[in-house]
Amino acid sequence: MSNNEIEMSRSNFNVDHIAHAVPNIEDAISQYKRVFGAKASNIKIIEKQDIKIAIVSFANLKIELMEPLSEKSPIASYLQKNPKGGLHHYCLSVDDVNQSYEDQKEKKINIISEPTKGYHGRNLYFIHPSEVCGALIEVEEHEKE
Ligand code: CO
Repeated sequence: MSNNEIEMSRSNFNVDHIAHAVPNIEDAISQYKRVFGAKASNIKIIEKQDIKIAIVSFANLKIELMEPLSEKSPIASYLQKNPKGGLHHYCLSVDDVNQSYEDQKEKKINIISEPTKGYHGRNLYFIHPSEVCGALIEVEEHEKE
């Protein structure tokens, strides 16, 4: 494909962030700082998912670091399988998340949950990993300025 053809066939989904599950968020922040000189946001507690998060910013990408706070957290079972941490999901954003959800349902795509509000107040849903070669994908609404 030429660059022009790639441009023409571009999806309407934008990349929003990649989520990295880690066993210790403070250690993860120092590693990102040491290796890439990257700064992280303050650490926030998200009670709904029982996790701590921090965002590491690169010029064109945000990485969401997530550490589970207890065994009940959805991230805890992931870390049991990947004790050193690993890439947990990536997130794509769209203009209208409810419309996107309806479109996926119509295509009979396996969606994990109905659109719900994320910690940032934007609506999101998850596509089951069986749909796209084992990758867990979050779809959320574009950040509005
Ligand atoms: Co995410």
